[in-house]
Amino acid sequence: MIHLENISFTYPKSSFSLAFSSLKVEAGTHVALIGPSGSGKSTLLNLLSGILLPAQGDIYIHEEKITGKTEAARRAFRLDKIGMIFQSFALLQYINVENNIMLPLLLDGQPITKALKERCRELLKSVGLEGMESRYPAQLSQGEQQRVAICRALINNPKVILADEPTGNLDHKNATSVLDLMLQQVRISGATLIMSTHDRSLFSKFDRVVDINELTRESI
Ligand SMILES: Nc1ncnc2c1ncn2[C@@H]1O[C@H](COP(=O)(O)OP(=O)(O)OP(=O)(O)O)[C@@H](O)[C@H]1O
Ligand SMILES: [Mg+2]
Repeated sequence: MIHLENISFTYPKSSFSLAFSSLKVEAGTHVALIGPSGSGKSTLLNLLSGILLPAQGDIYIHEEKITGKTEAARRAFRLDKIGMIFQSFALLQYINVENNIMLPLLLDGQPITKALKERCRELLKSVGLEGMESRYPAQLSQGEQQRVAICRALINNPKVILADEPTGNLDHKNATSVLDLMLQQVRISGATLIMSTHDRSLFSKFDRVVDINELTRESI
């Protein structure tokens, strides 16, 4: 279960604030997070990942209270337990595809074993990028970079995947196939998926749609 309660968050020197009383997501559920541009979807995902900390309220990720942890402990938890796909992909340009995929493990100080390289190879194959380990992000199309970002989110078999518009730059056909692929991986591992999207045609693929405006309405 993912559980947020009595959350209030404001960026420094900004009038934007995000406040709501409760959000509960059962483990293993696939949730689409929707709302207009600027409504706080990325902010909410960054709160869930522990990158941002709310001014008030508590966040539990599978029974762990992340709001009670230090920044270093939140980072370690994130690298170990959460797969993230950022709106801008956040691939590093000067390292190759394989190392981009291994990044959460490298940052966590884990040794890159043969088994991990094999998993990387299989993930790339599953997204149609077989043999692209040595390429650099600049040598890939936007859609291909997005698929590398998905592989990176899945490399450590996370039980929680937070995806910020991972299909945002893709045409409908590619968006559908990327989402199907993520859902397939998520089903295999039994992970919880929370994914922000503007694409209404994808809503039916999720167990649940959470509209951020409905979430915050009662608090306004
Ligand atoms: N680092 C920041 N400092 C100050 N304000 C910020 C910061 N990041 C985002 N904001 C503001 O917070 C609000 C919510 O932004 P957020 O990125 O969460 O929206 P979003 O729903 O993800 O939008 P989009 O659909 O365009 O990605 C916006 O008004 C934005 O300008
Ligand atoms: Mg966003």
